[in-house]
Amino acid sequence: MTRRASQQPIDFRAITDAELPDWTRAVNTGFLRPPTAPDQMVADRRIAFADSRVSGAFDAGRCVATFRSFDQELTAVGGAPVPADAISNVTVAPTHRRRGILTRLMADDLTAAKERGDVVATLIAAEYRIYGRYGFGPATTMTEWSIDVPRAGLDPNRSGPQDDGRIDFADAEEIRRIGPELHERLRRAQPGAIDRDEHWWAARTGQLWLHGSAYVEPFFVVYRAADGVVEGMASYRADDEWSDAKQPLNTATVNWLSAVTPAAERALWHYLCSIDWITRVKTGWRSPDDLLPLHLPDPRAARIITQADWLWVRILDVVRALEARTYDASGALVLEVVDRSGLAGGRFLLDATPDGASCTPTTRGADLTLDVAELATLWLGDESVGRLAALGRLREERAGAARGADALLRTSGRPWCPDMF
Ligand SMILES: CC(C)(COP(=O)(O)OP(=O)(O)OC[C@H]1O[C@@H](n2cnc3c(N)ncnc32)[C@H](O)[C@@H]1OP(=O)(O)O)[C@@H](O)C(=O)NCCC(=O)NCCS
Repeated sequence: MTRRASQQPIDFRAITDAELPDWTRAVNTGFLRPPTAPDQMVADRRIAFADSRVSGAFDAGRCVATFRSFDQELTAVGGAPVPADAISNVTVAPTHRRRGILTRLMADDLTAAKERGDVVATLIAAEYRIYGRYGFGPATTMTEWSIDVPRAGLDPNRSGPQDDGRIDFADAEEIRRIGPELHERLRRAQPGAIDRDEHWWAARTGQLWLHGSAYVEPFFVVYRAADGVVEGMASYRADDEWSDAKQPLNTATVNWLSAVTPAAERALWHYLCSIDWITRVKTGWRSPDDLLPLHLPDPRAARIITQADWLWVRILDVVRALEARTYDASGALVLEVVDRSGLAGGRFLLDATPDGASCTPTTRGADLTLDVAELATLWLGDESVGRLAALGRLREERAGAARGADALLRTSGRPWCPDMF
């Protein structure tokens, strides 16, 4: 139990229902939002967090730290869903920082997740340097572009779908009805993607107030292929900027855009770039190898404005994590995985083929020695073993092992997690 200067113990525990307002106030304080707990936000969190594990730290009865985790499915390379412990709402009050409160909350949660049988834990890190010490590694990257519409080279009068598909506006109710199935298609084919529960759709369509400021209705559009099947949809908002000469300079900002075919993706981007008054499109959080720039006649019209680590993964079970994913090559690799927390370390033999893989504890000599956080960074295929070796972040125990490992672990497409949680 952590002690304050006055030696009164900090109380770590799951919160009661009656403590949700105080806990919500503490989350808002930690995230530098107005330090209040609006009734509507509390009521909506009560609904959305019904299946969550919500905990906190209390000092003299007041909530000074918050932590929430919930069950999630993360898509591994090859498409298998992996049970994950998703972590969110992590805050420690500025009055109580740097005295080990997060460390205690995290240790309790990861231990419980391991006991439940979760294969990994996941989170989106506010700052890069917080979570590596707990065995998390950055596993996907997010890229946001700004499209200079007049520079894109599209014919402003002929930017509708070039196939027989069509784009239509939809209302929030229709999005809640048809959105989940589209996302299921997307996430099952996209390594790094996660499931969205009904609350995700409710929050994005104005039914639940869970984060940030109050809801403002966005525009929703749906792309249907010639056979009528929904293959894409997008949510966006627009500002109201005009030049001194009364020329429109509006920006469309994409809240989210889902497409399961290149045709849907192309049609939705061309649509967004053909709305009268819109001279700039901000794309929202896309995959770093998104096709977007190449869907434009002049790809340089799409300028990267943000590129950063996104989903962080903590492997809790090396055997199941490595057996859950697929491999394009055949080979054997012995990994010495170091885990200071004692949750997942050991020496493992990965025997992989394109038809399946086995991973077993072994006493054979290691090919590579690496921290469990570096294995997480490699697991979804977004980072190269060679680069981590060059940085001294893993050790080659056999000459050429890094190159052989890259042939097994890297993937032709990059992993992507479209969502914040
Ligand atoms: C990030 C935060 C949760 C850390 O909580 P905390 O209780 O202060 O963390 P701990 O005391 O357990 O820190 C453990 C170690 O991590 C380090 N650490 C914690 N936060 C860090 C940060 N933002 N940057 C760098 N190091 C950090 C501490 O210095 C400490 O290192 P040490 O063991 O070598 O002394 C807290 O500062 C906070 O609420 N920040 C604002 C909200 C936020 O960013 N939340 C995370 C959302 S993903």
